[in-house]
Amino acid sequence: MLPLVDKPMIQYNVEEIIASGITDILIITGKGKQVIEDHFDRSPELESFLRSKGKTELLAAVRAVSNNADIHYIRQKEPRGLGDAIRCAKAWVGDEPFAVLLGDDIMLSPTPVTKQLMQLAERHQCSAIAVEHVPADKVSRFGIIKPRALSGREFEVLDLIEKPAPEQAPSDLAISGRYVLTPAIFQMLETVPPGFNNEVQLTDALKALLAKEQIYALDAQCQRFDNGTKLDFLKSTVALALARPDLGPEFRAYLKSLKL
Ligand code: G1P
Repeated sequence: MLPLVDKPMIQYNVEEIIASGITDILIITGKGKQVIEDHFDRSPELESFLRSKGKTELLAAVRAVSNNADIHYIRQKEPRGLGDAIRCAKAWVGDEPFAVLLGDDIMLSPTPVTKQLMQLAERHQCSAIAVEHVPADKVSRFGIIKPRALSGREFEVLDLIEKPAPEQAPSDLAISGRYVLTPAIFQMLETVPPGFNNEVQLTDALKALLAKEQIYALDAQCQRFDNGTKLDFLKSTVALALARPDLGPEFRAYLKSLKL
């Protein structure tokens, strides 16, 4: 719920989902996250206050999410890994492909990264994941793929490993926080043993899925921020503020005026 400019971080990902054409959203929450549900709830008091003050733009912004999507929530009982969190969604998802966005990862691009992955997944009728090149000293922070280069920025995934030591990494292509998955992933999540950090890892389930289905990867053109780190949190705040028509010009002038 940390704000980026004037909206909580999670709202950017909810807006990315809606801009990708998805209207059914499930948020996997944990202990002490009720504030997320409160944030996305309709607020009749706030809406009538804004209406009475003629603040139509703000009113539209407040309503945009609740008017355009159905948001549901499931609580993960204990934090037992990303794979376990996805497993919580099994009954809700059913037998359809679905997109996964990790809350800390903010991706800015004219065509949302989720949409780009949906198109790739649709074209190949399989799962598609976002990847990006990372420096060698950072591979141990991510899931890393062994790629077969295809056209442009697309790859076929030949193997995956969660948070490898640099000498074990099969490439410098790290999984970033966007996935479009086929429902077959749920069978894999049921059977993979706990992996890195003794947690059920989505990367391990994807590796198991490879025995059954192909997986494609896309080094999507976007500005990506790993807001689990303080530096990227600051960078994304600056990037989002600069992109705002109401704040950007003055903020840019301010940044330029700083004698750094
Ligand atoms: C998770 C995934 C990892 C992926 C990363 C992207 O790790 O397990 O494969 O590379 O997200 O942000 P986490 O950041 O939860 O440790």
